[in-house]
Amino acid sequence: MYKTKIDLPEKLRRNVITVLNDRLADAIDFQSQVKQAHWNVKGPNFIALHELFDKISEAALEHIDDIAERITSLGGTAEGTVAVAAKRSKLKNYPLSITAGKDHLLYLSTQIASLGKAVRQAIDDTGKLGDADTADLFTGISRELDKYLWFLEAHLQDKA
Ligand SMILES: [Fe+2]
Repeated sequence: MYKTKIDLPEKLRRNVITVLNDRLADAIDFQSQVKQAHWNVKGPNFIALHELFDKISEAALEHIDDIAERITSLGGTAEGTVAVAAKRSKLKNYPLSITAGKDHLLYLSTQIASLGKAVRQAIDDTGKLGDADTADLFTGISRELDKYLWFLEAHLQDKA
């Protein structure tokens, strides 16, 4: 931990940083999975899905940056390499064999919902730990993940 004049106790910051690094790993894993879908999707809706997946990847990159910089703002070390993310991420592996737009939509919507659940838990956990700012950061991310879950699922919901 680095010395900082921030008015949050070190123990609190350590606990919050653990939550942040865990979700950082998930976010890095997720962003790489969305790119995997962006590159490999095929079928009649190719261009719409290719572009949507890139848009979600851009949002995920911002989430990654915001989470990592919150860690350093709290005096911690952002553990943001792909190798660490691969070990620590709680997300399922993305299948390399899927091709059809619908399959990517099904898989990505499962992944984003699972990340969304973990982030919602992080809102509660960091709030209870006493860091309203980190809880607020996770709240913003959670709201965006819910929106993109809708964007993905809307392709699958043509029947109620
Ligand atoms: Fe691209």
